[in-house]
Amino acid sequence: MEEKYIRLINKAFEIRKKAYSPYSGYKVGAALLCGNGQMYLGCNIENSAFGPSICAERTAFVEAVKNGERDFDAIAIVTGHDNSDVYEMASPCGVCRQFMSEFCDDGFKIIMTKMDKEGNLLDSKILNMNEILPDRFKLKN
Ligand code: THU
Repeated sequence: MEEKYIRLINKAFEIRKKAYSPYSGYKVGAALLCGNGQMYLGCNIENSAFGPSICAERTAFVEAVKNGERDFDAIAIVTGHDNSDVYEMASPCGVCRQFMSEFCDDGFKIIMTKMDKEGNLLDSKILNMNEILPDRFKLKN
């Protein structure tokens, strides 16, 4: 794995600690890498009304887009229950796939990880945007 993606994974591991998820107990960190090298971080933020909860991937994109970023290379995701020693790999939910696809071309990389609670990378899987959301919707004018 390229060094820039290892750095990205480590950032996702760190921001995961900031997740606000008292209802599910499941914490997610996402680190988004732009084409210019800039990184933006996100974590899931839950709500007692459940519906308004937002995933880590979308909070990272919101942060980046409001800073004017439009060119994206990859997102690294670290997911897991706080009480477990190993954070198992998970792939983005359907809403996040559509949200990300708004800003990303087919080659955008989604880096999923399995990590231990000390931050050691145990396993990873990289899929492209067109693999996680084939035949995606785009509004034509
Ligand atoms: N979650 C994410 O942050 N990203 C995903 O792709 C899937 C799920 C969050 C939402 C909720 O706070 C918790 O994980 C359990 O679903």
